[in-house]
Amino acid sequence: VRKIRIHHLQQMKARGERWAMLTAYDQLSASVFDAAGIPVLLVGDSAANNVLGYRTTLPISLDEMIPLTRAVSGAAPHALVVADLPFGSYQGSPQQAFDSAVRIMKEGGAHAVKLEGRAALAPTVKLLAEAGIPVMAHIGFTPQSEHALGGYRVQGRGENAEQLLEDALALQAAGAFSVLMEMVPAPAAAAVTKALDVPTVGIGAGPDCDAQVLVWTDMAGFTGGKTARFVKKYADLRGILTEAAQEYARDVRHGTFPAPEHSFED
Ligand code: KIV
Ligand code: NA
Repeated sequence: VRKIRIHHLQQMKARGERWAMLTAYDQLSASVFDAAGIPVLLVGDSAANNVLGYRTTLPISLDEMIPLTRAVSGAAPHALVVADLPFGSYQGSPQQAFDSAVRIMKEGGAHAVKLEGRAALAPTVKLLAEAGIPVMAHIGFTPQSEHALGGYRVQGRGENAEQLLEDALALQAAGAFSVLMEMVPAPAAAAVTKALDVPTVGIGAGPDCDAQVLVWTDMAGFTGGKTARFVKKYADLRGILTEAAQEYARDVRHGTFPAPEHSFED
């Protein structure tokens, strides 16, 4: 199986082939998804919630993202590994973004970075792209700015669809290899996908994007509590793991584990 490169994603858009992206934060999940043929893995800053137990993505640092990125890139020989630059590590200036991207690529082994922002981020995308750093731009609802956006709300409704398209075009012009849209109306995402030459990735952005992304722990039913409307659960990992833990504990209490086959003779 081939190693996925950016031009392959471009070719898939040209052929009208949709592809799936998943987050991954560790070597076990990354090796499973890579072997399953998922072409793009995202070391999302959703690791803040799903790995480190923070309540939002805001607290996670670049120093915390790097070892997770290294685990994923080291376990995924085929997938293109995109890493999120965390809140505060790139918004200050294009130079700051460059320094952070270089660290996550050199120390984490990422092949590309993802940045949240609108057209104002174009100079940053341009600097990185010209330096040979592939950038995926994340627009629509951007969780790192939840306090400015007033919480988890659909973006690009009504007349704001025009702004969404302008942002996407500006980021593409600056050199983004892909544009990810989160929580935008399906027709707005379809219009952006049609207008752009580069592939779009949707999450809560309807069926007409070139690709889809889900947080793997949501997709596999590992995440506890209520999940967003845009999530589809493909397994009940939380239920399976709960039963396994309970059965193991029961066996230990009853003395049925370890059995002779798990024990050593003298
Ligand atoms: O961090 C994340 O999980 C993301 C989503 C778009 C999947 O950025
Ligand atoms: Na993210």
